[in-house]
Amino acid sequence: MNMETRVYPDLDALSHAVLEETHRILKQAIAERGRFSIALSGGHTPARMYALWAEGIGAPTPWDRVHLFWGDERFVPLDDLLSNYRMTRETLIAHVPIPAANVHPVPTNLAPPTKAAEAYEAELRKFFGSAPPQFDLQLLGLGIEGHVASLFPDSPALEEKERWVAAVRAPAEPPNRLTLTPVVLNQGRNTFFLVSGENKRAILAALRDEPDSRPSKYPAGRIRPAGRSLWFLDHAAAD
Ligand code: 6PG
Repeated sequence: MNMETRVYPDLDALSHAVLEETHRILKQAIAERGRFSIALSGGHTPARMYALWAEGIGAPTPWDRVHLFWGDERFVPLDDLLSNYRMTRETLIAHVPIPAANVHPVPTNLAPPTKAAEAYEAELRKFFGSAPPQFDLQLLGLGIEGHVASLFPDSPALEEKERWVAAVRAPAEPPNRLTLTPVVLNQGRNTFFLVSGENKRAILAALRDEPDSRPSKYPAGRIRPAGRSLWFLDHAAAD
């Protein structure tokens, strides 16, 4: 698979680079459309970038123009240790003057998960309108078996053609999750994959070796957004 990659010495350097590019996209989005929408990733890898953003590294952020969404969320309360929202709140949101109305968490207080998925899609429609959202930037991680957001291998959500948000069962902890579907993730104006650590080497090599002529075996390879995709790797993952 053809991947535009950038390789950095370590997670810290990778995080600085992602933030620098984020500032550039943010500035352009605000100049062109008056606001910047980002779909955030969960997992561990983006935490450093969020913390650097909170510190104000690189450039000041006009927080009143920034809208935070999530690419996926675990179906747990928002203050649960496993919540992606909680990780973002602790590293970023709690430290910056972003208006509460600009923060759009997945409503995991609504049961069952399918109802929460519908409510999040309604929230997205309220913000973006009726056509599938084009996030200015979507951050994605990479699982060792090739998952992105909470789209795991063989998940029926990979085949979704209508719904923007799906409630899924993942072969991971916690199993109940909500995820943007490819209907949305394939629209992104900019998509950054953040991949760090030696345990990602094998899946990166497998993705790179896949021919572009066939649909990928891996969810990460099935996300081929309309806009620009960039892979930010550290040496441990890339070498
Ligand atoms: C999640 C994710 C998920 C994550 C990858 C990589 O909620 O778990 O958003 O797709 O990005 O599992 O996670 P790490 O960054 O922890 O390796």
